[in-house]
Amino acid sequence: MKRKPGIFLCGLGILLAAGLITGCSSTSNTSTSATSSITTSSASGVLFANDIQTIFNLNCVICHQGANAPAGLNLAVNSAYKNLVNVKSNESPLMRVSPGAPDKSYLLNKLLGTQGNAGGSGAQMPYGAPPLSQAQITLIQQWISQGAPNN
Ligand code: HEC
Repeated sequence: MKRKPGIFLCGLGILLAAGLITGCSSTSNTSTSATSSITTSSASGVLFANDIQTIFNLNCVICHQGANAPAGLNLAVNSAYKNLVNVKSNESPLMRVSPGAPDKSYLLNKLLGTQGNAGGSGAQMPYGAPPLSQAQITLIQQWISQGAPNN
């Protein structure tokens, strides 16, 4: 019996075609699984205890503590909040922190070096050291803008 070459070639063709198709489909299935992570702003959630008090602890409390704290401002844990919010500053007509109004808060003016324009006096804080970073000042500004909560 003679094989019919037509059938043989046809089968080979199908195998080749199947190989091409599977090869093709496997490459076309290559998925892009990279997910882009979007950094969320912490603007909505500044916490006094975590974010703000930590800045004071690291940069201010070395001077601003105890009964003889400069300008009567004790910034230590459990003292800072009650000495800042809705408390009049010694050096200016402004409140140290006026909830919702960072521009009218003497604390922020002292950190920016604008205390003279705000009717105050003395040096930019922290005294005798480089100013706080823009990120730190922005945190304090956001905390005041969101109502200076004791959170
Ligand atoms: C090396 C000591 C020292 C450090 C550190 C320091 N201060 Fe002061 N601070 C002073 C002195 C002294 C005064 C009063 C004289 C002046 O204003 O220049 C003062 C005054 C102030 C006042 C004015 C208070 C008022 O009622 O008028 C504010 C607000 C203040 N500091 C905030 C801060 C903050 C916030 C930090 C930290 C980021 C800080 N200080 C770090 C010494 C310091």
